Amino acid sequence: MSAGLRGRLLLLLRCCRTVRFAIMVLMSTASEPDPVAAVRDYYEQSAQREVERLGRPADGAIERELHARAFEEHLPSAPARVLDNGGGPGSWTLWLARRGYRVTLTDLSPALLDIARTRVAHASQQQASNVESIAKADARDLSAFPDESFDVVLCLGPFYHLTTETDRRRAVQEAHRVLRPGGLLIVTMMPPYMRLVSTVLEHGSASFTTGAADRILNEGRYDNPRPGRFTGGYLTRPDQVTPFFELHGFRVRRLIASQGVLAWAQTEVAALAQRDPDAYRRLLDLAYTTAGDPSIHGMAGHLLIIAEQSAVQASS
Ligand SMILES: C[S@@+](CC[C@H](N)C(=O)[O-])C[C@H]1O[C@@H](n2cnc3c(N)ncnc32)[C@H](O)[C@@H]1O
Repeated sequence: MSAGLRGRLLLLLRCCRTVRFAIMVLMSTASEPDPVAAVRDYYEQSAQREVERLGRPADGAIERELHARAFEEHLPSAPARVLDNGGGPGSWTLWLARRGYRVTLTDLSPALLDIARTRVAHASQQQASNVESIAKADARDLSAFPDESFDVVLCLGPFYHLTTETDRRRAVQEAHRVLRPGGLLIVTMMPPYMRLVSTVLEHGSASFTTGAADRILNEGRYDNPRPGRFTGGYLTRPDQVTPFFELHGFRVRRLIASQGVLAWAQTEVAALAQRDPDAYRRLLDLAYTTAGDPSIHGMAGHLLIIAEQSAVQASS
């Protein structure tokens, strides 16, 4: 074989290898499941449940009360511009619009966005006019919005559904980019212990034999194999919260347990609301004033983080 022919064959082989590798990479990325697809599917199927969640006395009612108090305490005055990112059926969008904020709602789930549009269409004209837009968007990609276009970004949901560090970093960087300097980022995260206990209560000894309990404790990873139940997610220890936001150019102003000290007694507290409304109010006052106590954060169902955009964020 001549040296020229040999050279051409070697070149062809090298090209083939490159093409083969490129095809393999393309095939692997094409077949890689979109990490948020399961989250979107879960909310598509449980849209109605999500609409009702914050109103259910033994489920979201305490969270709604304490979050509302935190928003009243920390939000800038209306008509600040708010992005309700992962806003689902629009409960907070409506709450904000009623108070004069100009709100944009984004979410992954078309079913929840449709519900939000219907709810806004049935709201008062003044409230509806404060909702600037409702659109499908992933918290990891807010490219539909220019830099520094919001005074506040609410992100109540996406962070505990983003299971890779890369995705959480993309989401926090996007929030930082669309916030004006000094703007507020309000996020919910989920600590591990409550989820560990609820997993064992739901799945029994399989939680230990399948390694689910270990993954929750050691990797902060929660997978729910039961179709139709709350999807998997990422669990953050309270002591990881501030370093994460500081790394990305935020100063944590407040960290509270979303249900305060009442997370384990929601059914009984709901009954108290009927039996003794005054005691219920006073218990909620107490729950809000103690919700920042770090000694309860590890056993919270959710954590609410209020952070101020403070600096240039770390590069990816
Ligand atoms: C538990 S619901 C909370 C809805 C609303 N924020 C509230 O507090 O009532 C979580 C929401 O986050 C949305 N979500 C989860 N991951 C998301 C992502 N990567 N981008 C945008 N929305 C997301 C879900 O579709 C769902 O509507």
